[in-house]
Amino acid sequence: MDLTDIEALEARFNGELQACADDRALTALHDAYLSRKRGHIGEIMRQLPQVDPSVRGAVGQRANALKRRVEEAIEKRRAELAEAAQQAIVDLVDVTLPGIRPRRGFIHPISQTRREICRIFMQMGYSIEDGPELDTEYYNFEAANIPRDHPARDAQDSFYVTDDLLLRTHTTPVQIHAMERRKPPLRIIAPGRVFRRDATDATHTPMFFQVEGLVVGKGISFAHLRGTLQTFAHMMFGPDVKLRLRPSYFPFVEPGAEVDISCFLCKGNGCRVCKDSGWIEILGAGMVHPALFDRVGYDRKEVTGFAFGMGIDRITLLKHGIEDTRLFFENDYRFLSQFRS
Ligand code: DAH
Repeated sequence: MDLTDIEALEARFNGELQACADDRALTALHDAYLSRKRGHIGEIMRQLPQVDPSVRGAVGQRANALKRRVEEAIEKRRAELAEAAQQAIVDLVDVTLPGIRPRRGFIHPISQTRREICRIFMQMGYSIEDGPELDTEYYNFEAANIPRDHPARDAQDSFYVTDDLLLRTHTTPVQIHAMERRKPPLRIIAPGRVFRRDATDATHTPMFFQVEGLVVGKGISFAHLRGTLQTFAHMMFGPDVKLRLRPSYFPFVEPGAEVDISCFLCKGNGCRVCKDSGWIEILGAGMVHPALFDRVGYDRKEVTGFAFGMGIDRITLLKHGIEDTRLFFENDYRFLSQFRS
């Protein structure tokens, strides 16, 4: 071995270096030349003792110089490749352009109303109850005292999944589930989705939201119902709002009532929200029908109760003076962002 071998090795290295296009190739090249045991330069060092003593010193020096050059050249090439990769990204993306600020999310107006209703009743000591959206005829109708021939049970009006299973048409079945699960006294509200086969228009959507309320205990009276709803109306719509109960019929309560509040917008003078009547209907309510107690094993001579149900969508519409409930479901950011709280 002599100096020409080293020169030849250096020429070979330079060629291979040029062919390295990425970090992995460079690492392989590094090992091929500089690995102590297997590297070409190490090999030269090992053969040094056999080199003719007259040139051994020069060969050794040359080999060492090559080693340094190889190290430096590989590092330099590594830096060049990194720089080129960086530049490729910069060429692709103009990092000096202003960023696009992500839109901040916020609570949907219907959820805001639901939360407010729940908060008001929780302050009055109610707990929140949940029930299935897919329920049986028994819970949705039968146990709620809605007879077989009642028009509400028509397949035209409800989404049936099987003969016996349907998407609940109201939150009233949660009353039955709750009473089956728990012993009186009971003070619950149950917010949730309900489904009806209504044609969609400004006041109907096939899915909407209700909140059901139920209080059962010894000596619960209609006066408790009225006082509770009056308190709710004040907290929800303002301290000046008056309450009006009109006799009405719901199979699961007796007596039953429809509940109006005085128009919080025009204060009773007449406007488009109350349709010039000065009153707005907000919910249905009544004293729990004793037949419901019989079904869940409560003693109708021991306990009485009141119940109410209201539409969350409807209350949201009223509060904001909106005329078309479909707006809540279109998810148009321009509409929804007005309810950012
Ligand atoms: N379930 C009725 C509906 O969907 C609303 C309702 C009325 C619920 C009177 C009640 C009630 O609890 O007492 O229209």
